[in-house]
Amino acid sequence: MAQAAVLAGLGAWLPPDVVTNDDLAAVLDTDDEWIRTRTGIRQRHVVAPGEATSDLAVEAGARALKSAGQEHADAVVLATSTPDRPCPATAPDVAARLGLQGVAAFDVGAVCTGFIYALATAAGLLATDAAGSVLVIGADTFSTILDPKDRTTRAVFGDGAGAVLLRSGGKDETGALRGLTLGSNGSRSELIEIPGGGSRQRSTGRPVTDADLYFAMQGRAVFAEAVQRMEGSVRHSAERAGWQLADIDRFVPHQANARIITALAARLGVPVEAFASNIDRVGNTVAASIPLALADEVTHNRLRVGDQVLLTGFGGGLTWGSIALTWPDLTAA
Ligand code: UT7
Repeated sequence: MAQAAVLAGLGAWLPPDVVTNDDLAAVLDTDDEWIRTRTGIRQRHVVAPGEATSDLAVEAGARALKSAGQEHADAVVLATSTPDRPCPATAPDVAARLGLQGVAAFDVGAVCTGFIYALATAAGLLATDAAGSVLVIGADTFSTILDPKDRTTRAVFGDGAGAVLLRSGGKDETGALRGLTLGSNGSRSELIEIPGGGSRQRSTGRPVTDADLYFAMQGRAVFAEAVQRMEGSVRHSAERAGWQLADIDRFVPHQANARIITALAARLGVPVEAFASNIDRVGNTVAASIPLALADEVTHNRLRVGDQVLLTGFGGGLTWGSIALTWPDLTAA
């Protein structure tokens, strides 16, 4: 029996504090109508003062283990671009707090594609027998790196965490990951970046300023790249999985902008109703976006056992990737 990574548990966690569009309009030159019509977002969740990415990751990770009926995983792979500290990685701390002493634990950085890259990395650990089960977590706290004066990024991004437990299994089982595709284009890295705080800036000896450490995005160019790259990635994954687009029951895309999802559906010639969307309630939660959307789909009975599901993501790097799977019997925790 050929080995595959099989989805066995799903968990989600949002910090309780909510910032509505009206809350933003009270402090920035923006309004609810602009944000809703340009992005589809009505509110986003944000961490409380002193709360960090690991705190959200531990909550989501514990729920994914519970959903799988497990207390153990052999490895923790954390997708994040907002680690608790620049060094060391945040995953070992998360593993320790989940009671997973001594297991392999590391971070994966692919911004909004991070969860797809982390799933691919975990599938590799399972395929090589380095692990029999892997807890894959996507967690980000972009509210901590946004320029408080930037009305565009503050309208878009929110905090959250989502996680899955993957176990080793057969490639024909329901829940087996298949049709995996990944890509990048580093020549456009400046479209999504935190310009300073890394070795490039530090080696100049110039002191780090606030502006160096804020997240910056060229929204319009990113929008066009996101639609184009996710279209290509979806088509490629479907082909690798041996599926026609018409066979796919649910598309679960990265939630960056409701208009990106509409444009992607149109380019694929698929009804937009086949696409998961929870962006109105959570905004763009970066590496947490896809697992949070999956949990929302399960909670609202829009994913059924045996459904053919395609996950797709796009983000900074630039990076993109997609994964296909047949939906297994599980409850989100
Ligand atoms: O997750 C990783 C990948 N990220 C994405 O995929 C994000 C992709 N990009 C987007 O979703 C959109 O480009 C944004 C939502 C970020 C911006 O929407 P847009 O429709 O592309 O707006 P824009 O940046 O082209 O700005 C249009 C206008 C500008 O005003 P002027 O220059 O035309 O007078 C902006 O200053 O809208 C203005 N604007 C706002 N107005 C009110 C920008 N943000 C706001 C705001 N409220 N929050």
